[in-house]
Amino acid sequence: MKLIIINGPNLNLLGKREPEVYGNKTFEDYFADLQFKFKDVQLEYFQSNIEGELIGKIQEVGFSYDGIVLNAAAYTHTSVGIGDAIKAVTTPVVEVHISNTHKREEFRHVSYISPVAKGVILGFGLQSYDLAIQSFLK
Ligand code: DQA
Repeated sequence: MKLIIINGPNLNLLGKREPEVYGNKTFEDYFADLQFKFKDVQLEYFQSNIEGELIGKIQEVGFSYDGIVLNAAAYTHTSVGIGDAIKAVTTPVVEVHISNTHKREEFRHVSYISPVAKGVILGFGLQSYDLAIQSFLK
């Protein structure tokens, strides 16, 4: 089972960024926890602040990997291009968010990812990623 976690803009700042919303842990530390927990899964991680790089990575892995766990961050609410990339590939995508975006500002209630995702997990803090990985394990 080969999965990749793809994180969008500003998620490289986890641990420092608005800790009251996103917590105190860096994603690198959390990713090590996930690798330890899911030893049988080939787990990769990619982060970019650039929309085109996220689209490029989805295209690159999207015909061979078993799953993509995608937190497109702010691009969730704006990116037709990321939505189209997900539609174009065959690898299923689970959309995740750390915060419950529906409890937040109205612009965060819109997602260009949800209509083309296999499923959506949000609001469980970093555990949202763990739950998304579990969703790929039968
Ligand atoms: C986020 C929610 C988005 O609205 C926001 O722009 C993010 C993070 C989350 O994981 O809660 O950067 O995707």
